[in-house]
Amino acid sequence: MSDSLRPRPVPGLGANVIGAEEEALVLDVLRRKEPFRYYGLNPAAPPPMVAQLEREFREYIGTDYALAVSSGTAALEVALAAMGIGPGDEVIVTAWSWISCFTAIVRTGARPVLAEIDDSLNLDPAEIARLATPRTRAVLIVHYQGVAADMEPIVLEAHRRGIFVLEDCAQSLGARYRGRRIGTWGDVATFSFQYNKVATCGEGGMVTTRDRRIYQRAVRLSDLGNYRPYHATIVPAQEPAMVGGQFRMSELAGAVALAQLRKVDGMMAHCRALQARVLTKIKGLTGLTTRRIVDPDGDFGFEIYLFLERAEWTGPFHERLTALNVNCGARTGTYPQYNRDYVKSPQMTHHPALSPFRDEAVWPAPGYRAEDFPRTEDLTKRFIALPLGPLYTAEDADYIGDCVVRVQREVCR
Ligand SMILES: Cc1ncc(COP(=O)(O)O)c(C=O)c1O
Repeated sequence: MSDSLRPRPVPGLGANVIGAEEEALVLDVLRRKEPFRYYGLNPAAPPPMVAQLEREFREYIGTDYALAVSSGTAALEVALAAMGIGPGDEVIVTAWSWISCFTAIVRTGARPVLAEIDDSLNLDPAEIARLATPRTRAVLIVHYQGVAADMEPIVLEAHRRGIFVLEDCAQSLGARYRGRRIGTWGDVATFSFQYNKVATCGEGGMVTTRDRRIYQRAVRLSDLGNYRPYHATIVPAQEPAMVGGQFRMSELAGAVALAQLRKVDGMMAHCRALQARVLTKIKGLTGLTTRRIVDPDGDFGFEIYLFLERAEWTGPFHERLTALNVNCGARTGTYPQYNRDYVKSPQMTHHPALSPFRDEAVWPAPGYRAEDFPRTEDLTKRFIALPLGPLYTAEDADYIGDCVVRVQREVCR
């Protein structure tokens, strides 16, 4: 490896491939002057974009129903409410998960019960048996950064206990597990089209399910309790009206998300090829291991995780890679829920009666403190994340691999 530094590749995912396809679909919406999904200028033909996105999305995932919403957070709130989760219920979720994975549960009135991850950085399936109580209604699975959780044991254990499985696929659209896309293993799944995601329209989300009752409830919960004629063509209204939020997707967002969805498989093939090059170069290095991928064939491949044998190596490893112009992180936007301000706050909800923790005498209670999660603490203090993306080249991947080899020699001794 020469001593010349390679310029940093541009990080990011779907946003980096926005181009003529997105422009054409957005222009179509603008030229028709129909930015609202349910009706426009022509009463005989409702606007097509979000409806087309939902159609292609459910075909892509391989499921029966898809409902576009305004964000991945909205998708989680709608999905939990559609399953009927509320006060007195408990939902198991990994401590290592995005903000909304905790807050969406709290906003239903239910109690998030935090679980440990394992070296896949996803839920340790054995946590369901450890944490389930008669009040447990669901387990929220986060497929973290492009990699499927171990769904078979998770679904078996949850369904054996009569617990719903909600898959949060916000970070992993396109990934597969045992040949099937994620989002088809549980009872309901959610997705995000936020800026940092595999497919983006700035802000947007999707709820998918095979359950017609959950679909109908999700429609009502996302649209002020309405069940409009378009949805009745998919499933006739059978569920009673109920109060809903307003989480609809606009035609403009739908246009961008549709063009992006069509690019996901291309990005995945590209990232997988780059990842394979890096992994070949770093194979067999001592002092570090890579993230355990339960099903490598289905991995999206947009972020490699190295676990360093010793936590004190993480800082120097990160510094040296950064000095070599390698994009990397010793932390990500995710960090443990028990360290987040809204969890530590004694005033968690806007009204005290809404808090599922209102009867706790001491806060944080056991199960919400760092010392209750030795494995999550250990694993997340020892990793280096190496992002890849559609604008990275094979040469970038080789350079990253060479730099990891060089830094390992300097640091892991
Ligand atoms: C795992 C996970 N769930 C939910 C969300 C929320 O998505 P959004 O930002 O679209 O509300 C995110 C976004 O980062 C996420 O990573």
